[in-house]
Amino acid sequence: MRTIKIFDTTLRDGEQSPGASMNIREKLEVATALAELGVDIIEAGFAIASPGDFESVQEVARVVRGSSVCSLARCIEKDINAAAESLKDAQQPRIHIFLATSQIHREYKLKMSKEQNIESVRSSVIYARQFCSDVEFSAEDATRTEIDHLARIVETAISAGATTVNIPDTVGYATPTEMYERINNLMNRVPNIDKAVISVHNHNDLGMAVATSLAAVQAGAGQVECTINGLGERAGNCSLEEVVMAIKTRHDVYNVTTRIITQKLVPTSRLVATVTGLKVPRNKAIVGQNAFAHESGIHQDGMLKNPTTYEIMLPSDVGFQKTDLVLGKHSGRAALADRAKTLGFDLASDQLTKVFTEFKKLADRKKNIYDDDILALIEQNIHEQPDNIDNDNTWSFVSYDLRCKTGEEPKATLTLQYKNKNYEKEINGGDGPIDAIFLAIKEITGKDISIKEYSVQSVTGGQDAQGEVTILLNKNGETYRGYAVSTDTFEASTVAILNAINRM
Ligand code: KIV
Ligand code: ZN
Repeated sequence: MRTIKIFDTTLRDGEQSPGASMNIREKLEVATALAELGVDIIEAGFAIASPGDFESVQEVARVVRGSSVCSLARCIEKDINAAAESLKDAQQPRIHIFLATSQIHREYKLKMSKEQNIESVRSSVIYARQFCSDVEFSAEDATRTEIDHLARIVETAISAGATTVNIPDTVGYATPTEMYERINNLMNRVPNIDKAVISVHNHNDLGMAVATSLAAVQAGAGQVECTINGLGERAGNCSLEEVVMAIKTRHDVYNVTTRIITQKLVPTSRLVATVTGLKVPRNKAIVGQNAFAHESGIHQDGMLKNPTTYEIMLPSDVGFQKTDLVLGKHSGRAALADRAKTLGFDLASDQLTKVFTEFKKLADRKKNIYDDDILALIEQNIHEQPDNIDNDNTWSFVSYDLRCKTGEEPKATLTLQYKNKNYEKEINGGDGPIDAIFLAIKEITGKDISIKEYSVQSVTGGQDAQGEVTILLNKNGETYRGYAVSTDTFEASTVAILNAINRM
């Protein structure tokens, strides 16, 4: 049975999802989880893109063991130099260079002839091979590239020393049948194709990224590029958890395997959702909360008689831990630590102390504390207030006094703390109470900010459920994310705004 390499690009293409930027600490946490998940190659970033990107690739390269670590680069020497330099400490480095090959990109974006296109691939792969024995070349927009030209590009990349050649469906345009035919065609006509691994990297614009990736595997592709939760540019990339579970569940069809430890899929998905702030939809295949929930009476009856009537995978195979355990006021630190671990978060002692303190406060306000409440507490207390944040330089919430009446302007008196000193502001105005709070925060902190996105969601069902607020603030064209939960939505909104400000 062939083993398909899983190339994860959550930290690079996934980070290109609007609002999904991660700091270095978060990237390291995700990279460590990806290595533990069994990912073969981790694309840690695009080293030349910014000093922050360079540093992230460098740190991931230093920490990760057991998976290859890769940096993206254009077919430009300074890009390849930066990628090589950032990967110096990697145990298994890979340089990933790309160039668009389709007519539309050659003519409008690159202003390059076919011959120049081929020469650029050849010289860049040769250049990259000076630094690294593992070089991947990607033909950007390959699925809209003339097949004869694409075949020449693939042959050139391989003869120049590329060890992997990627055929991306950059704009998510190909159908599964077309993808199969394209890979099959290349397999049959490129004379040196057996000297490299053929890869695919499919975007999800038409919702077909997983299907096209599976079709490519059937045609002989040996690597699939994907992201956790399907994150990525625009509609995202092929979802790692979906493609891996399709391969595993339908091995009778695909007859291939991967190295992924599938029981770690749900915890990894939760971690990525937590650090990016991009929530997993409840009905998302494999890792969504409802992926194994049976609502209809007929289905429930079948499940009780024999789970295989309606279940094609076991929830435990993807890392869902069945539990009837609900924590509450009398639950102790050990029970919380155990629950957090089951949910995929092995909290260090100081982190547990933080979360436990907030857990006790919550238990005073809310009778039953569910898994989602615990995940929200971890998100708010560990990811929103990391240890490396400069605590002397952060704003915190003290209290508010809100008066609202239909037909009248709201009035908000807000007290915040900064460097152990309280600051108070009263605002009469705003479109509503949240706007009044926002205006008061702006006045107190003196920050020139605007709200780009604001969402409130209930963490669980029930009248005493916590409200979960995610906010994107804009300051000088940069976006900053804030998150907070509370049974009091006004408090959660205030803290979420402050958390975003504290990241600035
Ligand atoms: O979508 C794409 O073509 C890419 C390449 C850089 C591989 O992300
Ligand atoms: Zn992409």
